[in-house]
Amino acid sequence: MMFFRTRIATVFATVVALLVVLGAAGLAFMYSGVYDVSASARDNPIVAKLLHGTYEASLHRHAGSDVAPGDLLSLENIRSGARMYDASCALCHGAPDRPLSAVGQGIQPAAPSLLSASRRNKPALMFWTIKHGVNMTAMPSFGKTQPDDAIWQVAAFIYAERGISKDKYALLVHGNAQTGSAAVSSQRQMSAADKN
Ligand code: HEC
Repeated sequence: MMFFRTRIATVFATVVALLVVLGAAGLAFMYSGVYDVSASARDNPIVAKLLHGTYEASLHRHAGSDVAPGDLLSLENIRSGARMYDASCALCHGAPDRPLSAVGQGIQPAAPSLLSASRRNKPALMFWTIKHGVNMTAMPSFGKTQPDDAIWQVAAFIYAERGISKDKYALLVHGNAQTGSAAVSSQRQMSAADKN
């Protein structure tokens, strides 16, 4: 009995000592300034992998409970989403009619090109990221300033218009309701796999 008690006490003391040493090492690392926080060089691949893996896991755990409006992919929603994209997102995520802004070129990690044809952009997942943002990256939380409707609209735009041409982009963003609908209307449906 006595033997076990001493043993447990030793294990406990060792664990506490280890934690103290680890904590002290962490503080020493932080205050040493050894870690380079500059955004001008790419992240170390291990840090990049850890950050991105944490993001993906968090996204899949938290997203998906918000229900998209029934008319998500209506032309009206897509057009409003295009305008919001142009005003608030293109600077970091790019647009087909201009080079990436100085802000977009300067952030680290870089923002993905949301309008490239190879993207999936599942609306329920993208809604969550746009609403809540991504901590420790330049991706802002738009839920602080925008209603859910506006966020669904921009999610609809980036889903429906992956691979959009320069001309169609200009038409959706700047076109008036008449010429816009005539020129851009096309049947849009969400594939079942992209619903959540
Ligand atoms: C100041 C720069 C900046 C602005 C402005 C910005 N984003 Fe982002 N966004 C980022 C960065 C950086 C990431 C990548 C985060 C990461 O690495 O996890 C990102 C990630 C995303 C993602 C996740 C993509 C994925 O593959 O999971 C979506 C969706 C997104 N942004 C949408 C938007 C929308 C829509 C807007 C405008 C309403 C917007 N962003 C505005 C910088 C920005």
